[in-house]
Amino acid sequence: MKSLTSTVTQSSNSGATQSGSSDNASSSDSLEMNHNSPKCEDLNKVFTEEEFTLYNLPKYYDIAFSRDVSGEIAFYISCFKKYCSFEVKTILEPACGSGIFLEAFPKYGYNITGYDICPNMVEYTKERIMNDGYAGKAEVLLGDMRTVKFDQKFDAAIISINSLGYCLTDKDILNHFKAMSESLRKGALYIVEIICAYEDLKNEKKPDETWLAESNGTKIEATWCPYFYDRENKIRHINFKMKVQDNGRMVEFEEKHELRLWHYEDFKRLTQEAGFRVVAIYNQEYQLVPIDSRITGELGALYYVLLNG
Ligand SMILES: C[S@@+](CC[C@H](N)C(=O)[O-])C[C@H]1O[C@@H](n2cnc3c(N)ncnc32)[C@H](O)[C@@H]1O
Repeated sequence: MKSLTSTVTQSSNSGATQSGSSDNASSSDSLEMNHNSPKCEDLNKVFTEEEFTLYNLPKYYDIAFSRDVSGEIAFYISCFKKYCSFEVKTILEPACGSGIFLEAFPKYGYNITGYDICPNMVEYTKERIMNDGYAGKAEVLLGDMRTVKFDQKFDAAIISINSLGYCLTDKDILNHFKAMSESLRKGALYIVEIICAYEDLKNEKKPDETWLAESNGTKIEATWCPYFYDRENKIRHINFKMKVQDNGRMVEFEEKHELRLWHYEDFKRLTQEAGFRVVAIYNQEYQLVPIDSRITGELGALYYVLLNG
């Protein structure tokens, strides 16, 4: 991801202006802020322009992308019970970000290990786990999903909200799946949430998704805007903007994200090459999508249940 612009000012100005929100966007009213956010020391540091990015500011990421994951957790657990032949006790989560699942899964009795490439995210999540008293049930490490392997064999793995899209090339994706296959027990599940390319070009351009979020006096306006779908190189280009009012401090920045433009055939081929098999596909309502149906972006983000070995 590349940072374009950033500004930080001390100000007592009023809140971020409200933009129109799309169907998928969340308003501050609908967001659940039900965890104790760790303190964030990030803003006491001096950031260079390049460092002023969404994933370097986990406190703001956490507010902007906070969501109630109880339905998703129930879905994952139902998959563990339905598709795995042994009892799932340990879970691995690549690209775990600010640790929303590392906080949630221990409440349901699971041990979870997450990792992320961004040191600030890892520090924030460590503190979150300590604050929640789940230090023995959740662990977070620094790692790159293109290379990280574990000696321990986990019972299951998850990767949410298209985070796998940061693996851009076939080589990176294959390396990731091979590393995951080696880090999981035979018969373990890996549940991957991604969105595929649209079949119909006219569905590709989407309006800006702008939403508002607020927690403990910090107000955020965030905009996630896919602006170019590069079919030749299979890359989805996103413009992301964030405006923050943090108790008198104003932070504003804009950056580009590049994510894999997924095609189901590529995804299936690469998972198979690494030793996984797609055993089920679910939509955002957790309903089964027939495995032999035409899988395109028109179906929205989907959960792919992969079986190792
Ligand atoms: C959209 S966030 C998702 C975080 C979390 N899974 C969630 O549901 O909130 C994507 C995360 O992927 C991480 N990331 C990007 N590239 C990565 C890589 N190569 N290896 C590990 N993590 C990576 C980022 O640092 C960021 O925390």
